[in-house]
Amino acid sequence: MHRVRKIIADAQYQDYLARTAEAEKERIYCKHDYQHALYVARISCLIALESRRFELKPLVYAAGLLHDIGRWVEYATGEDHCQAASPLAEPLLFRAGFSREETDVIIEGIVQHRSPQGSKIGEWLARADDLSRDCYGCQGRPSCYKAQQMLRLHRSLEL
Ligand SMILES: [Fe+2]
Ligand SMILES: [Fe+2]
Repeated sequence: MHRVRKIIADAQYQDYLARTAEAEKERIYCKHDYQHALYVARISCLIALESRRFELKPLVYAAGLLHDIGRWVEYATGEDHCQAASPLAEPLLFRAGFSREETDVIIEGIVQHRSPQGSKIGEWLARADDLSRDCYGCQGRPSCYKAQQMLRLHRSLEL
């Protein structure tokens, strides 16, 4: 099985997604569900390809899938979800077949996905995270602190 498919099929990954879904069931703003993980994985992969960093493709995709895996921990304890993701992601990545070195690069990106000056993967995840948001159809838009910034970003793409 492909390595990223192994992450998706991992029961522990599904359990973490379920915990976040439970914590977000009343949330009207963007959720941090599998759909979001998939959008971020795909968009950050496109950014990696646009940057001609083809060798990073599987690492970036895995980082996208796992970048918000610590959300439920943040809801439960207040620990920042970027940091909380690190011990959760590591065994998932090993079980999927990523090497120690690859795992370190992926985790560095995840931990830095909200840092202004992070690793390359962290930077791509942050951009993909913003681009993944569907502010146009969102019911939380009138009271969302990020909506105007996101809409400006989307307009700036001039697609
Ligand atoms: Fe996040
Ligand atoms: Fe995210």
